[in-house]
Amino acid sequence: MSILFDEENRLFYIHTAGTSYCMQISAAGYLCHAYWGARIRELHPSDAIEKRMRALSPNTDPNDLDFSLDTAPLEYPAYGSSDFRTPAFEVQFADGSTVCCPKVKSHRMIKGKPPLAGLPATYCEDESEAETLEITLEDTVGGLEITLCYTAFPGYDAIVRSARLKNTGKNEIRIMRALSMSADIRCGGFELLQLSGAWARERQIVRRPLVPGMQSVESRRGASSAQQNPFLALLSPHSGEEHGEVYGVSLVYSGSFLAGAEVDQFDRVRVFIGVNPFDFSWLLQPGENFQCPETVLVYSGAGLGKMSRTFHRFYRERLCRGAYRDRERPVVLNNWEATHFSFDAHTIETLAAAAGELGAELFVLDDGWFGERNDESSSLGDWFVNRRKLPDGLNKLAAQVNASGTAFGLWVEPEMVSRDSALYRAHPDWCLHVEGRDRTESRRQLVLDLCRSEVRGEIERMLTELLQSANIRYVKWDMNRNITEAGSTALAPECQREVSHRYMLGLYELLDRLTRKFPQVLFEGCAAGGGRFDPGILCYMPQIWTSDNTDAAERLKIQYGTSIVYPPCAMTAHVSEVPNQQTNRSVPLETRAYAAMMANFGLELDPLRLSGEEREAVKRMVADCKSIRRLVQFGDLFRLKSPFEGNDAAFLYASPDRLEAVAAYFRLLATANAPEVFLRFAGLNPDARYEETVNGGAYYGDELLHSGLPVRLYGGDFQCRFWHFRAAR
Ligand code: DGJ
Repeated sequence: MSILFDEENRLFYIHTAGTSYCMQISAAGYLCHAYWGARIRELHPSDAIEKRMRALSPNTDPNDLDFSLDTAPLEYPAYGSSDFRTPAFEVQFADGSTVCCPKVKSHRMIKGKPPLAGLPATYCEDESEAETLEITLEDTVGGLEITLCYTAFPGYDAIVRSARLKNTGKNEIRIMRALSMSADIRCGGFELLQLSGAWARERQIVRRPLVPGMQSVESRRGASSAQQNPFLALLSPHSGEEHGEVYGVSLVYSGSFLAGAEVDQFDRVRVFIGVNPFDFSWLLQPGENFQCPETVLVYSGAGLGKMSRTFHRFYRERLCRGAYRDRERPVVLNNWEATHFSFDAHTIETLAAAAGELGAELFVLDDGWFGERNDESSSLGDWFVNRRKLPDGLNKLAAQVNASGTAFGLWVEPEMVSRDSALYRAHPDWCLHVEGRDRTESRRQLVLDLCRSEVRGEIERMLTELLQSANIRYVKWDMNRNITEAGSTALAPECQREVSHRYMLGLYELLDRLTRKFPQVLFEGCAAGGGRFDPGILCYMPQIWTSDNTDAAERLKIQYGTSIVYPPCAMTAHVSEVPNQQTNRSVPLETRAYAAMMANFGLELDPLRLSGEEREAVKRMVADCKSIRRLVQFGDLFRLKSPFEGNDAAFLYASPDRLEAVAAYFRLLATANAPEVFLRFAGLNPDARYEETVNGGAYYGDELLHSGLPVRLYGGDFQCRFWHFRAAR
């Protein structure tokens, strides 16, 4: 049993293999947070919640001056009574009041994990994998019920949490804020880690000490965004990759979010995450429910690396789904950086033939194949082939590409519309907008109103027709702008603040329908690169274009940061030409290739512009990638050196039985007369004897772990070294 209720002491225990999460119902019926951390047998019941009278802290019960909502560790804190910290939710009742005091009404335990209505979610394949606890809180005066759901995945060491609000009264309730989780945990003095950045510089690691008061990250862009990621971690001071305590909180959502940590007056940390309350409200009619997205909680007592590996396995196996979930991902050649918008059928066929010769398994035709699309200014929404460029249509082209030995894939950007398009001319009101106001363009495009079912229906119809029109085995689903003028003609004036969230619900419905309809198609998420790299998208598309920045030196940082939460098989990484189109930097081909091999390898160059020697080298690298990709995509990642901390980066991927591993070391800038570098490995079996097959040699695991190997690089900037270890089975 991973979930227990100690009735006498009113204590809930949720256990996974290495974690316990405990709550206690206070004497007055409030749900209090009692513990989250390394697995324990039990909590001493009288010590679980502090009982002590504190100056200036109000008391809800005049007969119990030792209890105050101001100081109690709470589990889903309300707004309006005597807790002055950040609330998890806030509602306004029909009388205008915002005071709400929910107390525990009931609880039940369920085998397995129920699905989450309309939202992406983790799942179990068999009921025995998970257990769910539902605790219902009730505010009797206002007629509001809140059901908190906790699912323990003991074998994955993860706990999944969400909240559902129900209007049980006779009048409507306006939800002003409904976060997915909140917990008051004991980790004062810890540090906060966030993944922040910008377009082409996504998910950079930022770590800072927690200080009293509020620290938070958020997106207000209608997408999880390149600027912030719906994740945060709290780390014990000096913790590193393999040591120290880490609490990771990740939101399964792709829209605007808020994540934060508020350090209170007694050094408790209120950690929370959910849909961003900024420009959000939701009218809940009597009898209706509002379901918050779910959050995945991972505790590690052995550093950030263990937290990441826990997220990786869980997201890989119990969030991603479909035919490609467990399959090695094909080597792609994408034509975007080779041609941009200017190509014709001959160019594409020649590129595809060259891609096949290099060993690529999938050729992807990127932007520019449809409508009158010759630059960014037109045709989004017109998902029919441009006959001037591709006179024989997609079916013939796909057949031609297939004949050269590669599968055929296609780029689309279905959530968008260009003003200059047949779709916009026919339906100018189908984009998000506010009547009488300018429609702000970004990349010359507008956002379709996915709150409207007829808009979703038409997108589904067009894409269905498209995907049935040719042998298309892959779709790159792009999204190149954020939401502005978030207004929908489908919604009443009092519901306009629901638009951003309803947009996401509409998107999820569309993705769900299309991915079910085309189970054999590999869908790859993209949002001007990594502008929507989040668990919500991964639920429908098992891989995401990590960044538009293909410069290997900068990619190392982006991939390193992304790997804090997301598994390598989710990150696509392509070798592109030099000088690099984003940075103008020239990194040697071998280093570009190994950097791409650290994730889901592909090519984004014109093979015809390679010299004969380079072509042979790329062929070898494609073959090398195929020989190690199972290990990289589905093995355990150990980050050995952080590019955020120095002039180098190193990664190791080990098989679950630790009998095989590959590792790569990357040095950025060369230094004259540099000190010797020794690289210590991790994740190996100290007692195993490994053959190293790239450079030659045999080593015991203990030497590799504790002494390490020298890395001698003489060739200038951006050099790398690669090892492949194998021990006898
Ligand atoms: C942005 C993507 O990230 C690129 O890879 C490419 O597909 C362009 N859009 C095409 O417009």
